[in-house]
Amino acid sequence: MSSETAQILVTGGAGYIGSHTCVALIQAGFTPVIVDNFSNSHPLAIARIEAITGIRPQLHECDIADEDAMRQVLRNHEFAAAIHFAGVKAVGRSVSEPLETYRQNVTGSLSLLQSLNEGGITRLIFSSSATVYGGAEQMPISETARVQPTNPYGHSKAMVEQILHDLAAAEPDWGIGVLRYFNPVGAHKSGEIGEDPQGIPDNLFPYVSQVAIGRREKLQVFGNDYNTPDGTGVRDYIHVMDLAEGHVAALQACLQSQGLFAVNLGTGQGSSVLEIIKAFEQTSGQSIPFEIIARRPGDVGTSFADPSKAKELLGFEAQRDLTQMCQDSWNWQQRNPTGYSNH
Ligand code: UFG
Repeated sequence: MSSETAQILVTGGAGYIGSHTCVALIQAGFTPVIVDNFSNSHPLAIARIEAITGIRPQLHECDIADEDAMRQVLRNHEFAAAIHFAGVKAVGRSVSEPLETYRQNVTGSLSLLQSLNEGGITRLIFSSSATVYGGAEQMPISETARVQPTNPYGHSKAMVEQILHDLAAAEPDWGIGVLRYFNPVGAHKSGEIGEDPQGIPDNLFPYVSQVAIGRREKLQVFGNDYNTPDGTGVRDYIHVMDLAEGHVAALQACLQSQGLFAVNLGTGQGSSVLEIIKAFEQTSGQSIPFEIIARRPGDVGTSFADPSKAKELLGFEAQRDLTQMCQDSWNWQQRNPTGYSNH
């Protein structure tokens, strides 16, 4: 099947990374078909994908764990592959509600794999996270670093990775790409789709942009006593459209191969919290008031990727810089001050 016609099942396709990946898939000539239960996403994202690309992805509103519904979806399409985003991602909540995290992420993935296997779909891209490395000591982090998560969310991703390893070993027909994301930020440059966290944002970028727009009074910086150049936490922020294009590159590789590969998706560049504040102030022209408070429990000082394997294996390299990440986050925030709601 040529990529012009290939239908790709995208679970969680209305979510933050999923919606951007649908845009990248359409632009690469694929036909994404979305399965989403809107538990942490908004139906408007689908119309916005259409506004950007001119193509409205078909939607099946159901849960990946509903095997009857999934059977029905698989019967209605001829999928060349699946990209699996659906799951929960809140680290704090995974600590307070571990069973819910494992049910959604591990049981949900197992059900999906069962449905795919029955349907004869043997190509899969899995949304994993750099969180599987836990508090890695060696920087940059390469894929050979030990998998040692430090919270239930990270364990849930590592467990699914293990399940996929075992599946690939037992069933040589399968071709699986595991993508370990560093810190996805930014939005599509049109400002049509972007990150829309529910309630108070946990992550730095959405918090900073909500301070810039006046929705929140000031940012709290979690610690300035780390062993980093300015004492604040250093992370590898990657533009979500780069990440989306990384999925397309991984999909193309996985359509041509068998077995399993696991790659980092990051830029290889670390930025501190204070650098992000400064860059965001410069691009938005707004001041970002902040106060330094204690470290956030569970945080590490520094985390950034060795991105060389993605380049060698997939020919993928992130293209967009920090200024672009700030500009696109700010554009999305200005066009959608309360996210997808109230439109
Ligand atoms: N930070 C603040 N104030 C905030 C939010 C964050 O100072 O209000 C700091 C953090 O301490 C950290 C940096 O900004 O130094 C980035 O924090 P994020 O919460 O944006 O990102 P994390 O690196 O903590 O988390 C990300 C993903 C998680 C994943 C984790 C580990 O969001 O899903 O990486 O890989 F589990």
